[in-house]
Amino acid sequence: MTRLVIDPVTRVGGQLRVEAELSGGAVSEAWLSATSFRGIESILRGRPARDAWLLAQRVCGSCTGVHALASVRAVENALGLAVPRNARLVRNLITASTLVQEHVVNFYLRELPDWADPAAALTADPAVASALARSISDWANSDSDWFAAARDRLAALVKPGASGPFANAYTGHPAYRLPPEASLMLYGHYLEALDWQRQLVRIRTILGGKSPHPQTYLVGGMASAPEWGGPTRPSPDEHPSTRHSPPPLSLIGLADIDALLMAATRFVNSAFAGDVLAVAAHYPEWQKLGRGIGHYLSFGEFALADSQPAQLLLARGRVMDRDFANPRAIDQESVAESVDHAWYEYADVHDALLHPATGQTRPRYAGPALPYSSLAGMDRYSWTKAPRYADDPMEVGALARLLVAYGAGNSYVRSAVDRVAFELEGGMDAFFSTVGRTVARAIEAQLIAARMGEWLCELVANLAQGDLALVNLDAWDPARWPGRASGFGLAEGPRGAIGHWLTIRDGRIADYQIVDGSTWNGSPRDNRGRPGACEQALVGTPVADPNRPLEVLRTIHSFAVCPACAVH
Ligand code: NI
Ligand code: MG
Repeated sequence: MTRLVIDPVTRVGGQLRVEAELSGGAVSEAWLSATSFRGIESILRGRPARDAWLLAQRVCGSCTGVHALASVRAVENALGLAVPRNARLVRNLITASTLVQEHVVNFYLRELPDWADPAAALTADPAVASALARSISDWANSDSDWFAAARDRLAALVKPGASGPFANAYTGHPAYRLPPEASLMLYGHYLEALDWQRQLVRIRTILGGKSPHPQTYLVGGMASAPEWGGPTRPSPDEHPSTRHSPPPLSLIGLADIDALLMAATRFVNSAFAGDVLAVAAHYPEWQKLGRGIGHYLSFGEFALADSQPAQLLLARGRVMDRDFANPRAIDQESVAESVDHAWYEYADVHDALLHPATGQTRPRYAGPALPYSSLAGMDRYSWTKAPRYADDPMEVGALARLLVAYGAGNSYVRSAVDRVAFELEGGMDAFFSTVGRTVARAIEAQLIAARMGEWLCELVANLAQGDLALVNLDAWDPARWPGRASGFGLAEGPRGAIGHWLTIRDGRIADYQIVDGSTWNGSPRDNRGRPGACEQALVGTPVADPNRPLEVLRTIHSFAVCPACAVH
Protein backbone atom coordinates (compact mmCIF):
# COMPACT_ATOMS: atom_id res chain seq x y z
CA MET A 1 0.00 0.00 0.00
CA THR A 2 1.20 3.49 -0.85
CA ARG A 3 -0.08 6.64 0.85
CA LEU A 4 -0.47 9.56 -1.50
CA VAL A 5 -0.62 13.15 -0.22
CA ILE A 6 -1.45 16.27 -2.26
CA ASP A 7 -1.19 19.42 -0.14
CA PRO A 8 -2.07 21.99 -1.19
CA VAL A 9 -4.29 20.94 -4.08
CA THR A 10 -3.99 23.91 -6.42
CA ARG A 11 -6.53 25.28 -8.90
CA VAL A 12 -9.26 25.16 -6.21
CA GLY A 13 -10.67 28.07 -4.22
CA GLY A 14 -9.05 27.63 -0.82
CA GLN A 15 -6.89 25.27 1.21
CA LEU A 16 -7.41 21.61 0.34
CA ARG A 17 -5.41 18.49 1.18
CA VAL A 18 -6.11 15.09 -0.32
CA GLU A 19 -4.75 11.82 0.99
CA ALA A 20 -5.30 8.48 -0.73
CA GLU A 21 -4.34 4.86 -0.28
CA LEU A 22 -3.14 3.22 -3.47
CA SER A 23 -3.37 -0.46 -4.09
CA GLY A 24 -2.78 -2.25 -7.37
CA GLY A 25 -2.05 1.06 -9.11
CA ALA A 26 -5.39 2.66 -8.22
CA VAL A 27 -6.97 4.61 -5.36
CA SER A 28 -8.64 2.29 -2.85
CA GLU A 29 -9.65 4.97 -0.34
CA ALA A 30 -9.48 8.77 -0.25
CA TRP A 31 -9.81 11.57 2.32
CA LEU A 32 -10.53 15.23 1.56
CA SER A 33 -9.33 17.65 4.21
CA ALA A 34 -10.11 21.37 4.18
CA THR A 35 -7.16 22.71 6.18
CA SER A 36 -8.31 26.20 7.17
CA PHE A 37 -11.09 27.29 9.55
CA ARG A 38 -13.11 30.39 8.62
CA GLY A 39 -16.03 30.92 11.02
CA ILE A 40 -18.36 33.12 8.95
CA GLU A 41 -21.42 31.57 10.67
CA SER A 42 -20.03 32.72 14.03
CA ILE A 43 -19.11 36.18 12.70
CA LEU A 44 -22.72 36.70 11.58
CA ARG A 45 -24.21 36.21 15.03
CA GLY A 46 -25.35 39.43 16.66
CA ARG A 47 -25.24 41.44 13.42
CA PRO A 48 -28.31 43.17 11.94
CA ALA A 49 -30.26 40.65 9.86
CA ARG A 50 -30.69 43.26 7.13
CA ASP A 51 -26.92 43.11 6.60
CA ALA A 52 -26.65 39.32 6.63
CA TRP A 53 -26.27 39.03 2.83
CA LEU A 54 -23.45 41.58 2.72
CA LEU A 55 -21.33 39.59 5.16
CA ALA A 56 -22.50 36.10 4.13
CA GLN A 57 -21.42 36.57 0.51
CA ARG A 58 -17.84 36.80 1.77
CA VAL A 59 -18.01 33.01 1.96
CA CYS A 60 -16.49 33.10 -1.51
CA GLY A 61 -15.11 35.44 -4.14
CA SER A 62 -15.53 33.09 -7.08
CA CYS A 63 -18.93 31.63 -6.10
CA THR A 64 -19.57 35.32 -5.37
CA GLY A 65 -23.08 36.69 -5.06
CA VAL A 66 -24.77 33.32 -4.75
CA HIS A 67 -24.31 33.42 -0.99
CA ALA A 68 -25.82 36.92 -0.95
CA LEU A 69 -28.80 35.47 -2.80
CA ALA A 70 -29.29 32.51 -0.43
CA SER A 71 -28.86 34.83 2.55
CA VAL A 72 -31.31 37.50 1.43
CA ARG A 73 -33.82 34.76 0.62
CA ALA A 74 -33.45 33.36 4.14
CA VAL A 75 -34.33 36.73 5.71
CA GLU A 76 -37.20 37.24 3.24
CA ASN A 77 -38.46 33.74 4.08
CA ALA A 78 -38.36 34.55 7.81
CA LEU A 79 -40.36 37.76 7.21
CA GLY A 80 -42.73 36.29 4.61
CA LEU A 81 -41.65 38.82 1.97
CA ALA A 82 -42.12 38.51 -1.80
CA VAL A 83 -39.84 40.47 -4.15
CA PRO A 84 -40.97 42.49 -7.20
CA ARG A 85 -40.65 41.11 -10.71
CA ASN A 86 -37.75 43.42 -11.64
CA ALA A 87 -35.78 42.22 -8.62
CA ARG A 88 -36.39 38.59 -9.53
CA LEU A 89 -35.09 39.22 -13.04
CA VAL A 90 -32.03 41.17 -11.90
CA ARG A 91 -31.21 38.41 -9.40
CA ASN A 92 -31.57 35.78 -12.14
CA LEU A 93 -29.21 37.76 -14.39
CA ILE A 94 -26.55 38.22 -11.69
CA THR A 95 -26.69 34.57 -10.60
CA ALA A 96 -26.75 33.24 -14.17
CA SER A 97 -23.72 35.32 -15.14
CA THR A 98 -21.85 33.85 -12.16
CA LEU A 99 -22.70 30.28 -13.20
CA VAL A 100 -21.71 30.84 -16.83
CA GLN A 101 -18.46 32.57 -15.85
CA GLU A 102 -17.46 29.90 -13.32
CA HIS A 103 -18.22 27.01 -15.69
CA VAL A 104 -15.94 28.45 -18.37
CA VAL A 105 -13.22 29.43 -15.90
CA ASN A 106 -13.34 26.04 -14.22
CA PHE A 107 -12.76 24.25 -17.50
CA TYR A 108 -9.90 26.34 -18.85
CA LEU A 109 -8.08 27.56 -15.75
CA ARG A 110 -8.71 24.72 -13.31
CA GLU A 111 -9.29 21.55 -15.36
CA LEU A 112 -7.44 21.93 -18.63
CA PRO A 113 -3.90 21.42 -17.21
CA ASP A 114 -5.10 17.97 -16.05
CA TRP A 115 -6.00 16.94 -19.63
CA ALA A 116 -3.66 18.84 -21.96
CA ASP A 117 0.11 19.17 -21.54
CA PRO A 118 0.98 22.87 -22.02
CA ALA A 119 4.53 21.93 -23.07
CA ALA A 120 3.13 19.68 -25.83
CA ALA A 121 1.17 22.62 -27.23
CA LEU A 122 4.49 24.38 -27.98
CA THR A 123 5.42 21.62 -30.46
CA ALA A 124 2.19 22.01 -32.45
CA ASP A 125 1.96 23.13 -36.06
CA PRO A 126 -0.31 26.24 -36.01
CA ALA A 127 -1.71 25.39 -39.45
CA VAL A 128 -2.83 21.95 -38.22
CA ALA A 129 -4.27 23.49 -35.03
CA SER A 130 -6.19 25.95 -37.20
CA ALA A 131 -7.65 23.16 -39.36
CA LEU A 132 -8.62 21.22 -36.24
CA ALA A 133 -10.29 24.24 -34.61
CA ARG A 134 -12.26 24.99 -37.78
CA SER A 135 -13.46 21.39 -37.98
CA ILE A 136 -14.86 21.66 -34.43
CA SER A 137 -16.48 25.08 -34.22
CA ASP A 138 -17.05 28.38 -36.00
CA TRP A 139 -15.18 30.42 -33.37
CA ALA A 140 -13.62 33.41 -35.13
CA ASN A 141 -10.02 33.34 -33.87
CA SER A 142 -8.91 30.23 -35.70
CA ASP A 143 -6.42 31.01 -38.48
CA SER A 144 -2.86 29.73 -38.33
CA ASP A 145 -1.40 33.19 -37.61
CA TRP A 146 -3.63 33.46 -34.58
CA PHE A 147 -2.49 30.06 -33.29
CA ALA A 148 1.17 30.92 -33.98
CA ALA A 149 0.77 34.04 -31.83
CA ALA A 150 -1.04 32.04 -29.13
CA ARG A 151 1.84 29.53 -29.13
CA ASP A 152 4.31 32.38 -28.53
CA ARG A 153 2.25 33.76 -25.65
CA LEU A 154 2.05 30.28 -24.14
CA ALA A 155 5.79 29.72 -24.56
CA ALA A 156 6.50 32.63 -22.21
CA LEU A 157 4.42 30.92 -19.51
CA VAL A 158 5.79 27.41 -20.06
CA LYS A 159 9.52 28.12 -20.43
CA PRO A 160 11.74 26.59 -17.71
CA GLY A 161 11.91 28.77 -14.62
CA ALA A 162 8.81 30.81 -15.51
CA SER A 163 6.52 31.57 -12.58
CA GLY A 164 2.78 31.38 -13.08
CA PRO A 165 0.15 28.74 -13.71
CA PHE A 166 2.44 26.13 -15.31
CA ALA A 167 5.42 26.46 -12.97
CA ASN A 168 5.10 22.92 -11.55
CA ALA A 169 3.25 21.30 -14.45
CA TYR A 170 3.47 17.53 -14.86
CA THR A 171 5.20 17.93 -18.24
CA GLY A 172 5.40 14.73 -20.27
CA HIS A 173 3.12 12.76 -17.90
CA PRO A 174 2.10 9.42 -19.48
CA ALA A 175 -1.62 10.04 -18.76
CA TYR A 176 -1.70 12.98 -21.22
CA ARG A 177 -3.14 11.79 -24.51
CA LEU A 178 -4.09 14.87 -26.54
CA PRO A 179 -2.14 15.52 -29.76
CA PRO A 180 -0.04 18.74 -29.70
CA GLU A 181 -2.42 20.53 -32.07
CA ALA A 182 -5.45 19.84 -29.87
CA SER A 183 -3.43 21.10 -26.91
CA LEU A 184 -2.56 24.31 -28.74
CA MET A 185 -6.20 24.84 -29.70
CA LEU A 186 -7.27 24.40 -26.09
CA TYR A 187 -4.54 26.59 -24.60
CA GLY A 188 -5.25 29.26 -27.21
CA HIS A 189 -8.81 29.34 -25.87
CA TYR A 190 -7.42 29.23 -22.31
CA LEU A 191 -5.72 32.57 -23.00
CA GLU A 192 -8.91 33.92 -24.57
CA ALA A 193 -10.97 32.81 -21.58
CA LEU A 194 -9.01 35.28 -19.43
CA ASP A 195 -10.17 38.24 -21.55
CA TRP A 196 -13.62 36.72 -21.97
CA GLN A 197 -14.02 36.58 -18.20
CA ARG A 198 -12.98 40.23 -17.79
CA GLN A 199 -15.75 41.26 -20.20
CA LEU A 200 -18.49 39.00 -18.84
CA VAL A 201 -17.92 40.27 -15.31
CA ARG A 202 -19.01 43.73 -16.48
CA ILE A 203 -22.61 42.45 -16.57
CA ARG A 204 -22.38 42.03 -12.82
CA THR A 205 -20.61 45.32 -12.25
CA ILE A 206 -23.49 47.08 -14.03
CA LEU A 207 -26.19 45.23 -12.07
CA GLY A 208 -24.31 44.69 -8.83
CA GLY A 209 -22.10 47.77 -8.56
CA LYS A 210 -18.91 45.69 -8.49
CA SER A 211 -17.54 42.18 -8.77
CA PRO A 212 -16.72 40.14 -6.85
CA HIS A 213 -19.28 40.75 -4.10
CA PRO A 214 -22.19 42.69 -5.65
CA GLN A 215 -23.49 45.54 -3.50
CA THR A 216 -27.08 45.91 -4.72
CA TYR A 217 -28.97 43.23 -2.78
CA LEU A 218 -31.61 44.36 -0.30
CA VAL A 219 -33.97 42.44 1.94
CA GLY A 220 -37.13 42.66 -0.19
CA GLY A 221 -35.52 43.28 -3.57
CA MET A 222 -32.60 44.99 -5.26
CA ALA A 223 -31.02 48.45 -5.19
CA SER A 224 -29.92 48.63 -8.86
CA ALA A 225 -31.26 52.10 -9.70
CA PRO A 226 -34.01 52.09 -12.35
CA GLU A 227 -34.23 55.11 -14.63
CA TRP A 228 -36.30 54.34 -17.63
CA GLY A 229 -35.82 56.52 -20.67
CA GLY A 230 -33.05 58.12 -18.61
CA PRO A 231 -29.95 60.11 -19.45
CA THR A 232 -27.97 59.92 -22.63
CA ARG A 233 -24.46 58.56 -22.56
CA PRO A 234 -22.08 61.06 -20.84
CA SER A 235 -19.83 63.02 -23.15
CA PRO A 236 -16.22 61.80 -23.22
CA ASP A 237 -15.12 65.45 -22.66
CA GLU A 238 -16.84 65.60 -19.31
CA HIS A 239 -14.40 65.75 -16.42
CA PRO A 240 -14.20 62.33 -14.73
CA SER A 241 -14.89 63.84 -11.29
CA THR A 242 -18.25 65.18 -12.44
CA ARG A 243 -19.18 62.32 -14.76
CA HIS A 244 -21.91 59.99 -13.54
CA SER A 245 -22.34 56.46 -14.76
CA PRO A 246 -25.76 55.83 -16.23
CA PRO A 247 -28.09 54.05 -13.80
CA PRO A 248 -27.88 50.29 -14.34
CA LEU A 249 -31.51 49.91 -15.33
CA SER A 250 -31.47 52.65 -17.93
CA LEU A 251 -31.65 52.13 -21.68
CA ILE A 252 -27.86 52.52 -21.82
CA GLY A 253 -27.10 50.11 -18.99
CA LEU A 254 -29.40 47.43 -20.40
CA ALA A 255 -28.04 47.86 -23.93
CA ASP A 256 -24.51 47.41 -22.54
CA ILE A 257 -25.57 44.19 -20.82
CA ASP A 258 -27.14 42.93 -24.04
CA ALA A 259 -23.92 43.53 -26.01
CA LEU A 260 -21.76 41.91 -23.33
CA LEU A 261 -24.09 38.93 -23.14
CA MET A 262 -24.11 38.36 -26.88
CA ALA A 263 -20.31 38.42 -27.06
CA ALA A 264 -19.99 36.10 -24.06
CA THR A 265 -22.53 33.67 -25.50
CA ARG A 266 -20.65 33.32 -28.78
CA PHE A 267 -17.55 32.04 -26.96
CA VAL A 268 -19.62 29.66 -24.80
CA ASN A 269 -21.55 28.16 -27.72
CA SER A 270 -18.62 27.68 -30.07
CA ALA A 271 -15.18 27.55 -28.43
CA PHE A 272 -16.15 26.27 -24.95
CA ALA A 273 -18.77 23.73 -26.06
CA GLY A 274 -16.49 22.30 -28.76
CA ASP A 275 -13.42 22.13 -26.52
CA VAL A 276 -15.15 20.18 -23.76
CA LEU A 277 -16.38 17.54 -26.22
CA ALA A 278 -12.91 17.36 -27.80
CA VAL A 279 -11.39 16.48 -24.42
CA ALA A 280 -14.17 13.96 -23.72
CA ALA A 281 -13.56 12.23 -27.07
CA HIS A 282 -9.84 11.74 -26.36
CA TYR A 283 -10.45 10.21 -22.91
CA PRO A 284 -13.26 7.62 -23.32
CA GLU A 285 -12.17 5.66 -20.21
CA TRP A 286 -12.79 8.81 -18.14
CA GLN A 287 -16.44 8.54 -19.19
CA LYS A 288 -16.49 5.50 -16.87
CA LEU A 289 -14.12 6.60 -14.08
CA GLY A 290 -15.03 8.80 -11.13
CA ARG A 291 -18.69 7.73 -10.97
CA GLY A 292 -19.10 8.39 -7.26
CA ILE A 293 -22.10 7.78 -5.00
CA GLY A 294 -24.83 8.12 -7.65
CA HIS A 295 -27.18 10.28 -5.51
CA TYR A 296 -27.78 13.80 -6.85
CA LEU A 297 -29.44 16.77 -5.16
CA SER A 298 -30.61 20.09 -6.61
CA PHE A 299 -32.31 22.90 -4.69
CA GLY A 300 -33.43 24.31 -8.05
CA GLU A 301 -32.86 27.81 -9.42
CA PHE A 302 -34.05 30.64 -11.60
CA ALA A 303 -37.63 31.58 -10.73
CA LEU A 304 -39.62 31.96 -13.94
CA ALA A 305 -42.68 33.61 -12.38
CA ASP A 306 -43.56 35.84 -9.45
CA SER A 307 -45.99 33.34 -7.91
CA GLN A 308 -45.08 31.30 -4.82
CA PRO A 309 -43.84 28.65 -4.91
CA ALA A 310 -42.17 29.84 -8.08
CA GLN A 311 -41.82 27.69 -11.14
CA LEU A 312 -38.08 27.06 -11.61
CA LEU A 313 -36.04 26.78 -14.80
CA LEU A 314 -33.97 24.03 -13.16
CA ALA A 315 -36.20 21.91 -10.96
CA ARG A 316 -35.78 21.16 -7.26
CA GLY A 317 -35.39 17.47 -6.42
CA ARG A 318 -33.06 14.53 -6.06
CA VAL A 319 -32.04 11.48 -8.06
CA MET A 320 -31.18 8.31 -6.16
CA ASP A 321 -28.94 5.51 -7.49
CA ARG A 322 -28.60 7.26 -10.89
CA ASP A 323 -32.32 6.68 -11.60
CA PHE A 324 -32.71 10.05 -13.32
CA ALA A 325 -35.99 9.05 -14.95
CA ASN A 326 -37.61 9.20 -11.52
CA PRO A 327 -36.48 12.26 -9.55
CA ARG A 328 -37.99 12.67 -6.10
CA ALA A 329 -39.35 15.76 -4.39
CA ILE A 330 -37.27 17.26 -1.59
CA ASP A 331 -37.76 19.52 1.41
CA GLN A 332 -35.21 21.47 3.40
CA GLU A 333 -36.22 19.72 6.62
CA SER A 334 -34.35 16.60 5.50
CA VAL A 335 -30.94 18.31 5.42
CA ALA A 336 -28.70 17.59 8.41
CA GLU A 337 -24.99 17.67 9.22
CA SER A 338 -22.62 15.31 11.01
CA VAL A 339 -19.34 16.44 12.61
CA ASP A 340 -18.18 12.97 13.64
CA HIS A 341 -15.09 13.20 11.39
CA ALA A 342 -14.68 16.98 11.31
CA TRP A 343 -12.88 19.34 13.68
CA TYR A 344 -16.07 20.43 15.49
CA GLU A 345 -18.10 19.26 18.44
CA TYR A 346 -21.83 19.32 19.12
CA ALA A 347 -22.64 20.31 22.69
CA ASP A 348 -25.51 18.89 24.76
CA VAL A 349 -27.03 16.84 21.96
CA HIS A 350 -27.27 13.13 21.41
CA ASP A 351 -28.12 13.27 17.71
CA ALA A 352 -25.28 12.60 15.33
CA LEU A 353 -26.98 14.72 12.67
CA LEU A 354 -28.28 18.24 13.30
CA HIS A 355 -30.66 20.15 11.05
CA PRO A 356 -29.10 23.56 10.24
CA ALA A 357 -31.97 25.43 11.96
CA THR A 358 -30.65 23.99 15.23
CA GLY A 359 -27.09 23.52 13.99
CA GLN A 360 -23.94 24.43 15.90
CA THR A 361 -20.51 25.70 14.89
CA ARG A 362 -18.13 24.82 17.70
CA PRO A 363 -14.61 24.38 16.32
CA ARG A 364 -12.38 21.87 18.11
CA TYR A 365 -9.16 20.99 16.32
CA ALA A 366 -8.35 17.33 16.88
CA GLY A 367 -5.75 16.70 14.20
CA PRO A 368 -2.07 15.92 14.52
CA ALA A 369 0.43 18.47 15.80
CA LEU A 370 1.50 20.91 13.10
CA PRO A 371 3.22 20.48 10.73
CA TYR A 372 2.12 16.94 9.96
CA SER A 373 2.98 14.57 7.13
CA SER A 374 -0.05 12.30 7.26
CA LEU A 375 -3.63 12.18 8.50
CA ALA A 376 -3.57 8.35 8.50
CA GLY A 377 -5.43 6.94 11.47
CA MET A 378 -6.99 10.32 12.32
CA ASP A 379 -10.64 9.95 13.24
CA ARG A 380 -11.28 13.66 12.53
CA TYR A 381 -9.56 15.19 9.56
CA SER A 382 -11.30 18.24 8.03
CA TRP A 383 -12.82 21.66 8.74
CA THR A 384 -15.72 20.70 6.44
CA LYS A 385 -18.87 19.31 8.08
CA ALA A 386 -20.65 16.33 6.48
CA PRO A 387 -24.13 17.30 5.20
CA ARG A 388 -26.58 14.53 4.40
CA TYR A 389 -30.04 14.48 2.82
CA ALA A 390 -32.47 12.08 4.53
CA ASP A 391 -29.32 10.46 5.94
CA ASP A 392 -27.70 9.94 2.53
CA PRO A 393 -24.53 11.52 1.12
CA MET A 394 -25.31 13.48 -2.07
CA GLU A 395 -23.49 14.89 -5.09
CA VAL A 396 -24.48 18.42 -6.11
CA GLY A 397 -23.60 20.80 -8.96
CA ALA A 398 -24.41 21.25 -12.64
CA LEU A 399 -24.67 17.51 -13.29
CA ALA A 400 -27.14 17.10 -10.41
CA ARG A 401 -29.18 20.06 -11.70
CA LEU A 402 -29.33 18.64 -15.24
CA LEU A 403 -30.27 15.14 -14.09
CA VAL A 404 -33.09 16.42 -11.87
CA ALA A 405 -34.34 18.81 -14.58
CA TYR A 406 -34.14 16.04 -17.18
CA GLY A 407 -36.21 13.70 -15.03
CA ALA A 408 -38.68 16.49 -14.28
CA GLY A 409 -39.35 16.78 -18.02
CA ASN A 410 -37.51 20.02 -18.89
CA SER A 411 -37.58 19.86 -22.70
CA TYR A 412 -34.60 22.22 -23.20
CA VAL A 413 -32.45 20.14 -20.87
CA ARG A 414 -33.64 16.88 -22.42
CA SER A 415 -32.80 17.84 -25.97
CA ALA A 416 -29.40 19.32 -25.01
CA VAL A 417 -28.43 16.31 -22.88
CA ASP A 418 -29.69 13.78 -25.45
CA ARG A 419 -27.77 15.52 -28.23
CA VAL A 420 -24.50 15.42 -26.28
CA ALA A 421 -25.10 11.85 -25.03
CA PHE A 422 -25.32 10.81 -28.67
CA GLU A 423 -21.80 12.20 -29.23
CA LEU A 424 -20.25 10.53 -26.18
CA GLU A 425 -18.87 7.02 -26.54
CA GLY A 426 -20.52 6.03 -23.26
CA GLY A 427 -23.89 7.56 -24.21
CA MET A 428 -26.12 8.71 -21.35
CA ASP A 429 -24.15 6.59 -18.87
CA ALA A 430 -21.06 8.73 -19.61
CA PHE A 431 -22.63 11.57 -17.61
CA PHE A 432 -22.03 9.57 -14.40
CA SER A 433 -18.30 10.14 -14.53
CA THR A 434 -15.41 12.56 -14.16
CA VAL A 435 -15.84 13.75 -17.76
CA GLY A 436 -19.64 13.83 -17.30
CA ARG A 437 -19.42 16.57 -14.66
CA THR A 438 -17.39 18.74 -17.02
CA VAL A 439 -19.70 18.12 -19.97
CA ALA A 440 -22.70 18.96 -17.75
CA ARG A 441 -21.20 22.38 -16.95
CA ALA A 442 -20.74 23.10 -20.67
CA ILE A 443 -24.36 22.16 -21.43
CA GLU A 444 -25.67 24.21 -18.52
CA ALA A 445 -23.60 27.27 -19.47
CA GLN A 446 -25.18 27.26 -22.95
CA LEU A 447 -28.71 26.80 -21.60
CA ILE A 448 -28.37 29.55 -19.02
CA ALA A 449 -26.66 32.04 -21.32
CA ALA A 450 -29.59 31.64 -23.74
CA ARG A 451 -32.08 32.23 -20.92
CA MET A 452 -30.26 35.38 -19.79
CA GLY A 453 -31.22 37.04 -23.07
CA GLU A 454 -34.88 36.22 -22.39
CA TRP A 455 -34.74 37.60 -18.85
CA LEU A 456 -33.14 40.77 -20.14
CA CYS A 457 -35.97 41.20 -22.69
CA GLU A 458 -38.54 40.56 -19.97
CA LEU A 459 -36.89 43.19 -17.76
CA VAL A 460 -36.81 45.77 -20.57
CA ALA A 461 -40.48 45.10 -21.40
CA ASN A 462 -41.52 45.41 -17.78
CA LEU A 463 -39.67 48.69 -17.25
CA ALA A 464 -41.08 50.02 -20.54
CA GLN A 465 -44.58 49.39 -19.19
CA GLY A 466 -43.81 51.73 -16.31
CA ASP A 467 -43.21 49.11 -13.60
CA LEU A 468 -40.04 50.44 -11.97
CA ALA A 469 -40.49 48.67 -8.61
CA LEU A 470 -37.33 46.96 -7.40
CA VAL A 471 -37.90 46.53 -3.71
CA ASN A 472 -40.76 45.48 -1.46
CA LEU A 473 -40.77 48.09 1.31
CA ASP A 474 -43.16 46.18 3.60
CA ALA A 475 -40.33 45.14 5.90
CA TRP A 476 -38.10 48.17 5.49
CA ASP A 477 -38.06 49.07 9.19
CA PRO A 478 -36.68 46.26 11.41
CA ALA A 479 -38.35 47.92 14.40
CA ARG A 480 -41.63 46.66 12.95
CA TRP A 481 -40.40 43.09 12.40
CA PRO A 482 -41.65 40.30 14.66
CA GLY A 483 -39.48 39.96 17.77
CA ARG A 484 -38.48 36.49 16.75
CA ALA A 485 -38.50 34.88 13.30
CA SER A 486 -36.65 32.12 11.55
CA GLY A 487 -36.25 31.19 7.92
CA PHE A 488 -34.20 29.49 5.24
CA GLY A 489 -32.96 30.40 1.78
CA LEU A 490 -32.09 27.86 -0.89
CA ALA A 491 -30.09 28.64 -4.03
CA GLU A 492 -27.92 27.01 -6.65
CA GLY A 493 -24.36 28.22 -7.12
CA PRO A 494 -21.71 27.18 -9.64
CA ARG A 495 -20.77 24.31 -7.31
CA GLY A 496 -24.25 23.21 -6.36
CA ALA A 497 -26.97 23.36 -3.72
CA ILE A 498 -26.61 26.16 -1.16
CA GLY A 499 -28.75 26.56 1.95
CA HIS A 500 -28.73 29.36 4.55
CA TRP A 501 -30.74 29.04 7.77
CA LEU A 502 -31.14 31.80 10.34
CA THR A 503 -32.99 32.87 13.45
CA ILE A 504 -33.68 36.58 13.97
CA ARG A 505 -34.20 38.13 17.40
CA ASP A 506 -35.10 41.83 17.64
CA GLY A 507 -33.79 42.46 14.14
CA ARG A 508 -30.45 40.77 14.79
CA ILE A 509 -29.05 37.38 13.82
CA ALA A 510 -29.31 34.94 16.73
CA ASP A 511 -28.18 31.84 14.81
CA TYR A 512 -26.84 31.32 11.32
CA GLN A 513 -25.92 28.12 9.48
CA ILE A 514 -24.66 27.62 5.93
CA VAL A 515 -24.37 24.50 3.79
CA ASP A 516 -22.54 25.15 0.53
CA GLY A 517 -22.35 23.07 -2.66
CA SER A 518 -18.75 22.27 -1.81
CA THR A 519 -19.78 21.22 1.71
CA TRP A 520 -21.77 18.44 0.03
CA ASN A 521 -19.16 17.47 -2.57
CA GLY A 522 -16.12 18.05 -0.35
CA SER A 523 -17.70 16.36 2.66
CA PRO A 524 -15.61 14.14 4.92
CA ARG A 525 -16.96 10.85 6.27
CA ASP A 526 -20.19 11.02 8.28
CA ASN A 527 -21.54 9.50 11.50
CA ARG A 528 -21.83 6.14 9.73
CA GLY A 529 -18.36 6.33 8.21
CA ARG A 530 -19.60 6.90 4.67
CA PRO A 531 -17.36 9.08 2.45
CA GLY A 532 -18.45 12.32 0.80
CA ALA A 533 -19.15 12.64 -2.93
CA CYS A 534 -15.63 13.51 -4.09
CA GLU A 535 -13.97 11.03 -1.71
CA GLN A 536 -16.15 8.24 -3.12
CA ALA A 537 -15.58 9.29 -6.74
CA LEU A 538 -11.80 9.05 -6.27
CA VAL A 539 -12.00 5.34 -5.47
CA GLY A 540 -10.80 3.32 -8.47
CA THR A 541 -8.80 6.18 -10.01
CA PRO A 542 -5.70 4.74 -11.72
CA VAL A 543 -2.43 6.44 -10.74
CA ALA A 544 0.49 5.86 -13.12
CA ASP A 545 3.04 7.78 -11.04
CA PRO A 546 2.35 8.35 -7.30
CA ASN A 547 4.80 11.25 -7.32
CA ARG A 548 2.79 13.04 -10.00
CA PRO A 549 -0.87 12.11 -9.30
CA LEU A 550 -2.36 13.84 -12.34
CA GLU A 551 -5.31 11.43 -12.54
CA VAL A 552 -6.41 12.20 -8.97
CA LEU A 553 -6.54 15.92 -9.82
CA ARG A 554 -8.85 15.22 -12.77
CA THR A 555 -11.63 13.95 -10.54
CA ILE A 556 -11.10 16.57 -7.82
CA HIS A 557 -11.30 19.37 -10.40
CA SER A 558 -14.35 17.76 -12.06
CA PHE A 559 -16.24 18.66 -8.85
CA ALA A 560 -14.90 22.24 -8.97
CA VAL A 561 -14.48 21.84 -5.20
CA CYS A 562 -14.17 25.18 -3.42
CA PRO A 563 -12.78 24.45 0.08
CA ALA A 564 -13.25 28.09 1.17
CA CYS A 565 -16.97 27.71 0.50
CA ALA A 566 -17.08 24.20 1.96
CA VAL A 567 -15.84 25.48 5.34
CA HIS A 568 -17.17 29.04 5.29
NI1 NI B 1 -16.56 29.14 -3.56
MG1 MG C 1 -22.05 25.34 7.82
